[in-house]
Amino acid sequence: MKNIAVFTSGGDAPGMNAAVRAVVRTGIYHKMNVHGIYHGYQGLIEGKIEKLGKKDVANIIHRGGTILKTSRSEKFRTPEGRAQAYKVLQKHKIDGIVAIGGDGTFTGAKVFSEDYNIPFIGIPGTIDNDIYGTDYTIGFDTAINTAIEAIDKIRDTADSHNRLFFIEVMGRHAGDIALHTSIGSGASFAFLPETNTTVEDLIGFLDNAKKRQKLFNLVIVAEGNKSGNAMKISRKLKKISEKYESRVMIIGHIQRGGSPSTHDRVLASRFGYAAVNALKEGLSNVAVGLISGEIVHTPFEDAITKSKGIDQTMVKMSEILSL
Ligand code: F6P
Repeated sequence: MKNIAVFTSGGDAPGMNAAVRAVVRTGIYHKMNVHGIYHGYQGLIEGKIEKLGKKDVANIIHRGGTILKTSRSEKFRTPEGRAQAYKVLQKHKIDGIVAIGGDGTFTGAKVFSEDYNIPFIGIPGTIDNDIYGTDYTIGFDTAINTAIEAIDKIRDTADSHNRLFFIEVMGRHAGDIALHTSIGSGASFAFLPETNTTVEDLIGFLDNAKKRQKLFNLVIVAEGNKSGNAMKISRKLKKISEKYESRVMIIGHIQRGGSPSTHDRVLASRFGYAAVNALKEGLSNVAVGLISGEIVHTPFEDAITKSKGIDQTMVKMSEILSL
């Protein structure tokens, strides 16, 4: 393997730059030419690709976002788009690719490598931590720390005013960000996509909390939970029970930005290093991951179709600790 390429795709995640750096430098160590593809699959179709040297990835390990930029490409979903992408790869004689992103990225990689027989290695990069085959995805740790920092501030004002706050966090259809921020912030209650918690359950909790003279409550709402977003839950609560006045705070996209935590930098470096070594060893169509501290390789098929699920013991623990 002589010419490899790396790109980032889907939602950006803090630590992606550290992964790009590791891919470029490990590739160069193995005497490979490493190319960066800009703007994900869309950029590949448009031929936005250039060779990267060691210095091109200097001074980026601490930066959020992705120097390679990112996108979600509709065109790559079409056979015509993929054919165009293949031409670009042929032109640059690319014989192996590292794709950094989430399940959408891996789905694209799987379809493409099956059509054109080009080895792909995936690196799980998404704040959602929802990829099967790894305990942690790049960006998750930074995102939960960013959220916790914001929630700690809300705690101060909630405490001062004896208020109920709904705090909405990201995660799409997965509740790991919500679960971890809920435990880490000492929140009273959480709405997760993986549970069937209702507003009525919350009212039961709040009534009990009132009896125990609990004066303020922080409620974490995962954006993908079944009872609706934080705004909707707050309105529904008010409609059912006038006694609970609340405020809503949506943390939003700041969860995706900022300098990556040490955990994310190290994880991303390990993934980038492992991905290039996997290409070198002839692996293809697998995502690297970290399970119980060890690097593993999971077929894209499993990474895409299998659900990681939520740690039910932690869900139970979070409920017990907020009593
Ligand atoms: O997958 C990362 C994520 O931030 C999700 O948590 C969120 O649902 C989604 O992307 C938002 O996507 P965007 O703002 O890019 O449309």
